[in-house]
Amino acid sequence: MCGIVGYIGGRNAYPILINGLKRLEYRGYDSAGIALFDNNQINIYKKRGKVADLEALMKDEKIKAKIGIGHTRWATHGEPNDINAHPHTSQDKIFTLIHNGIIENYETLKNKLISKGYRFTSDTDTEVLVNLIEYFYKKDSVDAELAVRIALSRVIGAYGIVLMCKDEPGKLIAARKGSPLVIGIGDKDEYFIASDATPIVEYTKSVIYLNNDNLAIITCKQLIIKTIDNLALEPEIKKLDIGIDAIEKNGFDHFMLKEIFEQPQSIRDTFRGRISPNFKDIRLGGLVKVLPELSKARRIVIIACGTSWHAGLVGEYLIEEFARISVEVEYASEFRYRCPIMDKNDFVIAISQSGETADTLAAIELAKQKGATVIGICNVVGSSIPRETVAGVYTHAGPEIGVASTKAFTAQVTVLTMMAYLLGKEKKIISDEKFEHLVKELYSVPEKISQLLEVNEKIKEIAEIYKDSTNFLYLGRGYQYPVAMEGALKLKEISYIHAEGYPAAEMKHGPIALIDKNMPVVFIAIKDKTYEKIISNIQEIKARKGDVIAVITKGDETIKNMVDHCIEIPEVDESLSHLLTIIPLQLLSYHIAVKRGCNVDQPRNLAKSVTVE
Ligand code: G6P
Repeated sequence: MCGIVGYIGGRNAYPILINGLKRLEYRGYDSAGIALFDNNQINIYKKRGKVADLEALMKDEKIKAKIGIGHTRWATHGEPNDINAHPHTSQDKIFTLIHNGIIENYETLKNKLISKGYRFTSDTDTEVLVNLIEYFYKKDSVDAELAVRIALSRVIGAYGIVLMCKDEPGKLIAARKGSPLVIGIGDKDEYFIASDATPIVEYTKSVIYLNNDNLAIITCKQLIIKTIDNLALEPEIKKLDIGIDAIEKNGFDHFMLKEIFEQPQSIRDTFRGRISPNFKDIRLGGLVKVLPELSKARRIVIIACGTSWHAGLVGEYLIEEFARISVEVEYASEFRYRCPIMDKNDFVIAISQSGETADTLAAIELAKQKGATVIGICNVVGSSIPRETVAGVYTHAGPEIGVASTKAFTAQVTVLTMMAYLLGKEKKIISDEKFEHLVKELYSVPEKISQLLEVNEKIKEIAEIYKDSTNFLYLGRGYQYPVAMEGALKLKEISYIHAEGYPAAEMKHGPIALIDKNMPVVFIAIKDKTYEKIISNIQEIKARKGDVIAVITKGDETIKNMVDHCIEIPEVDESLSHLLTIIPLQLLSYHIAVKRGCNVDQPRNLAKSVTVE
């Protein structure tokens, strides 16, 4: 979704801002803009389309400003066009603002401002906010900071904002409620600000995450952090633990492909230091304090969105099988608006790559109000969800830039697997021998994925055959059912082909009506407890002339002889098989999307981090 970058210091701001906007492209956006403060003047450049279009627009400008702000916009209020793009300026051109999030009461505020003589040029809630700030600035004759604080006290909704005031050069003011902001402390007398650390990491590792309801007043010489109610705060400086190579493509054509290939390493990073060297123990430091109560839980509710929700489904199967605790998996967006039955005896696990998904955050809030203990499984260190939860586990998959989630999914599932095994051991549901065997199997997964990735070329050939299909069906049973759904989601997201993931046996209650020679069906048909059943399901498809692509266990000649194409995966314990079976499905969607000429890393209309509901 929308991205923010800002700079104040001794360097030329433009290259830092344009480079920062490129780093933020992965979040998904439809227009971009920059405002530069130079010679007591604020110049604004903005353009619908890509950052490259903005760059082309600015190529003949002589720019030497040392202060500026930049934004990528993902349209909410008003269509993506040049006028609605950020930055927005107030009517008398005193303030220039960039904004992530949504001002929910913007209509009321806008009407009030119209009655005071304000006129609007865009359809955005952001223009309402910048004018509201100017309105109080002039009416109450206050300084920029106080005008911001008064205006924000009137606002309902979520925001991460950065603004410049023409009357107060040499200063950036930033504030946060809901939408994240991180401030980078540069070498000398310079600060960076961004909606996540990716635009900052190449300049500094020292950062401060703004908390909700915090305001930052930034000059070259000084950084002041306070609450919106004017209480001074001591900034807490954190060290970023990611390097520049983590956010670059390193020779791969796309971030998505790089991230698919990173999975042996990212899964290793997820269990590194958590599995004891003799495989007899798992230690999840962030769960230690809740583990005794968690193991006695009657029920766990998993809340998440998108791919993280699919990881949650795998978690349900794992926790119910190994820990014998009843698990429900809920879409955060549904949970938050129905009337869920929940009390202090319940445990909630919130799963999120970004840690910033608005619906998941709201669902956490509701669960906390109902007295539940909320645990987080998150990838982005320092994001909002880990701060809103009492305990949790970081997935440590490293930055995920491709909008379609790949390595974050397998890392989330790895964490859930460790949790299930650990709870099973604590509750003595699985024996020490079985536990040790399972942990050893988990340890072997990265190497098996490395072997499996060798199927890349074969999958490219399969993609060539099916790239023009308009529909796909993905079928699996047991652990492979969430994999089928995740495989279908990957294809939809990046190739824009309609795809459905279904439990294989349910197929005969509906989807079978769709089967003909134009409907490729992807089966995840490994040798597990439903193997014989899934063979029957494959036959049902073949009898109706459907093309079958099957993900099978290595050496399975039976299915190989029945289907049109097959991809073999190394043998592994059934409770870990999904970590392998998802890999070819990620690759299949990737190659189909590339062959269709789609923008794999930034698919249309999608955002990496969905910070609005
Ligand atoms: C967006 C992303 C998905 C992601 C979902 C949930 O839709 O495009 O890849 O699965 O949000 O995001 P989260 O960060 O909470 O896992």
